[in-house]
Amino acid sequence: MKERLAIGSDHAGFELKQKVINFLEIEGYKIEDFGTYDSSSCDYPDFAFKVAKNISEKKNDLGILICGTGIGMSITANKVKGIRAANCCSVDMAKLARKHNDANILTIGARIIAFEQAKEIILAFLNARFEGDRHIKRINKINELTGLL
Ligand code: RB5
Repeated sequence: MKERLAIGSDHAGFELKQKVINFLEIEGYKIEDFGTYDSSSCDYPDFAFKVAKNISEKKNDLGILICGTGIGMSITANKVKGIRAANCCSVDMAKLARKHNDANILTIGARIIAFEQAKEIILAFLNARFEGDRHIKRINKINELTGLL
């Protein structure tokens, strides 16, 4: 069973988001699109918060957020309870974000990463699995120390 995905972007990520949605639907994923819905200027926290809240409430399994760098999306999403958002620029980062950090949101920079590379990063993220084991206590420590997650 494929994960249910929530996706969002700002204007800088809009074009890449549309391509990613099209690609992932062909791959058989169900995707809920939280906008933005055109390329007019908007504010990334609005979309990061919507997707992060949706994942935090377990309405979908995993999230993808796209802005210019992926940084603003990750900063915002990581303020939401239960969210571990990872801004990934390579396939290895995307795999390890799931395997070691149990990341539940992938953020991507559309001004940094081209579509061909984004596809590989996204598939690596979706296909990797959390390894558990020693990583569980580290993730629990994030919760204990910050009181957030
Ligand atoms: C928008 O110009 C840009 O600042 C935004 O997409 C993002 O890169 C922020 O982190």
